[in-house]
Amino acid sequence: MTQDELKQAVAQAAIQYVVEDSIVGVGTGSTANFFIDELAKIKHKIKGAVASSEATAARLRGHGISVFDLNEVSAMPVYIDGADEITPQGAMIKGGGAALTREKIVASVADKFICIADGSKLVDLLGKFPLPIEVIPMAQAVVMRKLNALGGAAHLRLKDGQPLLTDNGNIIIDVHGLQITDPVALEAAMNNIVGVVTVGLFAKQGANVCLLGTAGGVKTLTF
Ligand code: A5P
Repeated sequence: MTQDELKQAVAQAAIQYVVEDSIVGVGTGSTANFFIDELAKIKHKIKGAVASSEATAARLRGHGISVFDLNEVSAMPVYIDGADEITPQGAMIKGGGAALTREKIVASVADKFICIADGSKLVDLLGKFPLPIEVIPMAQAVVMRKLNALGGAAHLRLKDGQPLLTDNGNIIIDVHGLQITDPVALEAAMNNIVGVVTVGLFAKQGANVCLLGTAGGVKTLTF
């Protein structure tokens, strides 16, 4: 199976976690896009969705799914999203698509985080994938110095030669070369750096379920 076929398989499997008549939290990225396409097939069974990015909102609307502002929503049974890396304990690196802040906010409202990922995302140790950090632009230099002091190599993410700007108008610093043995502690330490908006470690509040696409079928990990 190709990686896209594995992503599609987990996106299909995630539909069983969607609660009828509810509002669904929807993530960002290629796996989440497959999920949105599956969600469209049962759109008459849900009230709508909360999107974790402008791109996801546009795709949901394109399918005729109502998109709610998070401020109108006080409860959500599930948030469904991909990951860049996930451990057997359910801690994740996210933000490869630069949507980490809205992803973390929407996930914080949901009762359960359902991670959908192809098997290549499962790792014993987080950090091979550069850790994305959303940062207020004026704090770029000071935050990069402090991230480097924590043992990584901080790089400003560029797009077309310019700093990539998130949906919130901030920059992304990717921290390379980390070996994250204590994700909860590192998430807290990085969150404490002034100028950091969001750390792409989802460890304090990780996944509750991971649907992992493998050649042998979709495996369900629960945490
Ligand atoms: C988006 O900002 C990310 O957190 C994505 O969830 C993550 O990068 C996974 O993306 P893919 O599903 O495209 O691999």
